[in-house]
Amino acid sequence: MTEANTIVEHLGADYFQDPYSVHARLQAERPVSAVIMPGGMPAWLVTGYAEARAALADPRLRKSPPGWHPDPDSVYAALDMHMLNSDPPDHERLRRLVNKAFTTRRVEELRPRITSITTGLLDDISTQRDVDLLASFAFPLPITVICELLGVPVADRDDFRAWSATIVSNTVTPEVFMADATAMVRYITALLADKRREPADDLLSALVLARDEGDRLRENELVSMVFLLLVAGHETTVNLIASGMLALVLNPGEFGRLRADRSLVGGAVEELLRYANPVNHATYRFTSEPVEIGGAHIGQGEPVVVALSAANRDPSRFAEPGRLDLGRDSSGHLAFGHGIHYCLGAPLARLEAEIAFSGLLERFGSMTLTVSTDSLRWRPSTLIHGLEALPVRLVAAD
Ligand code: HEM
Repeated sequence: MTEANTIVEHLGADYFQDPYSVHARLQAERPVSAVIMPGGMPAWLVTGYAEARAALADPRLRKSPPGWHPDPDSVYAALDMHMLNSDPPDHERLRRLVNKAFTTRRVEELRPRITSITTGLLDDISTQRDVDLLASFAFPLPITVICELLGVPVADRDDFRAWSATIVSNTVTPEVFMADATAMVRYITALLADKRREPADDLLSALVLARDEGDRLRENELVSMVFLLLVAGHETTVNLIASGMLALVLNPGEFGRLRADRSLVGGAVEELLRYANPVNHATYRFTSEPVEIGGAHIGQGEPVVVALSAANRDPSRFAEPGRLDLGRDSSGHLAFGHGIHYCLGAPLARLEAEIAFSGLLERFGSMTLTVSTDSLRWRPSTLIHGLEALPVRLVAAD
């Protein structure tokens, strides 16, 4: 990386606990900073809103790292060859295969089933006074939905939740990473073999068919696709629901406002996406040629990380960005990214969150934290911004 414009910030363990104060400090100095990521890798961190939006749509920023040609039979290839890591034309080919299943119209058809899953979970937690809202509600809801949609047995969720947590973590050893990544690949491969033997009315069976009927999907692309949908489908919405509820609990005025007027829920979901940032960073991008972004001169092949949570709290785009304001116009937030990799699951995530927040508001008249705010722990990941647990006391609505 170019020494002349390099101010290095080392992102350490405290970054996971509070990325916002690091971002605000960097943002006040420049929109793009040279940093050392928690794993020790140097990268350019984009924190300014305008620069982040432009970077996400810039074709010179590519997903494939320079010189990255993993052995096609390796675990890396099996987890890596998905749309989020692909550039055109592969990206479009892969996205087109599943696009239809995730449109707003198709997803809307899932409303009754998502509502019934939500009701079941609310019934369960209603019998308790103190609960970990993350483990007992925010996590099981999206994972059940994505498992049913894909045709993955919900009963296996604890296994792949553990493997997936390792894969997105920044603090595990290479040995642990490899062990869990291998377990995940084996699990998905076996599942696909089951679908081949006994196809069902689910997305995995449809993908197996697409793979077997033509040459549009290679076997490791198929495994990667399933991996991406499973991980993206449950590592993210859980944090919108849990961190969103935390934001409401800590902002009783806004919580009351939503209680008083439930029709605000659609706008509230958008503001909670902007404010709570379930995904902290977009995934790595690499420059295909030297580029200048926000005054930083970035050489060819260098890694660029767009801090979505920083852009969503850039005061030049959102006034008083650290204030939760359910009435504000949050449109243009970058929580789902921007450009060709814009989140495929955005309609599903929005619907799940709307049903989850509405259900919680209807069922419980009050919700309070049972631990101090300072003792809440955030997961050690630069990608995911999510709580380890959300201990709350619930009081039923009258
Ligand atoms: C609140 C919940 C969610 C958030 C905040 C979120 C956020 C994001 C972001 C920021 C990206 C782009 C990353 C980048 O450009 O590097 C993305 C891509 C993606 N998301 Fe989501 N996501 C959510 C839920 C979901 C769900 C429920 C699914 C369902 C399967 C999903 C599937 C995907 C896929 C497949 C991509 C890759 C799209 C592509 O490369 O074209 N996401 N998501």
